[in-house]
Amino acid sequence: MIKKAVLPVAGFGTRFLPASKAIPKEMLPIIDKPLVQYAVEEAINIGVEEIIFITSPEKFSIKKHFDTNHGFESRLKNSKKLEMIDRLNPKIFKEIKFHYILQEEQNGLGHAVLHAEKVVGKDPFAVLLPDDLFFSKKSCLSQLLDIYKKTESSVIAVNKIDKENIHKYGVIKPGEIKEKLIKIEDIVEKPSYEEAPSDIAVCGRYIFNASIFKFLKSTNFDKSGEIQLTDAIKKLLQEERVYASIYDGEKFDCGSKKGFVHATIALALRNESISEDIKKIIKEIV
Ligand code: UTP
Repeated sequence: MIKKAVLPVAGFGTRFLPASKAIPKEMLPIIDKPLVQYAVEEAINIGVEEIIFITSPEKFSIKKHFDTNHGFESRLKNSKKLEMIDRLNPKIFKEIKFHYILQEEQNGLGHAVLHAEKVVGKDPFAVLLPDDLFFSKKSCLSQLLDIYKKTESSVIAVNKIDKENIHKYGVIKPGEIKEKLIKIEDIVEKPSYEEAPSDIAVCGRYIFNASIFKFLKSTNFDKSGEIQLTDAIKKLLQEERVYASIYDGEKFDCGSKKGFVHATIALALRNESISEDIKKIIKEIV
């Protein structure tokens, strides 16, 4: 039902300097897999067939990562390391069409998503922010897809946030709530503690109807010179229902150092090949 996914990866990644000077933040690995690959796999696993990266000229390594590397593959075949081939060129990527659209100026998330319009056309589509990493039995995007199938309305993933940190997020004003599904009344980008309409914040997974593009086009630059996706959603709300789905699972904000390290430790402790050693190391350090 959702065949296209947009992954905005053109941001500067300033919080990860100097690591993000030559390596895109999205290519930093959690253990042995770059952040962006976790998001691409999440999209493919709900049936997405086209991945649309909104990228910048410096981030050529993302394209290189998803291109098939024939030379390395034949070397692995020759040295009989066949089990490594799927790690190098995963089979699940073979049928996927990857698009790379340049965002010449980094004018915000809304500006980035608008760049996908030509490829997305009139179809509903997913947006995944690769620096938010999710782990759950049913993936975050799959939880949104269940809602979209029932409502055919745009739906965004949300979770509860400590009020002290609310100023970092898009925050919803909830309307009618049925179990984990909320009808959104209003949405505000990075409100102050006092002005936040709730403690329910947007996290990096969305499914949109193509009508969002009309509102992105009519959204003005904000005080910081960015076109905010949140502001376009606010306008969309005046014409259509938009739902929020309370995400059920673990979330790591890998755009921040704390979240990145947390995700690395959590995954290391679940990785059979290293978990026992890592437990010992942590005990020694603590
Ligand atoms: P962030 O604000 O978290 O990423 O944007 P950033 O700007 O790269 O990081 P900092 O704040 O400087 O450390 C969320 C996502 O939106 C993309 C980013 O690449 C990231 O995946 N983005 C952001 C764009 O593609 N274009 C933009 O103009 C802004």
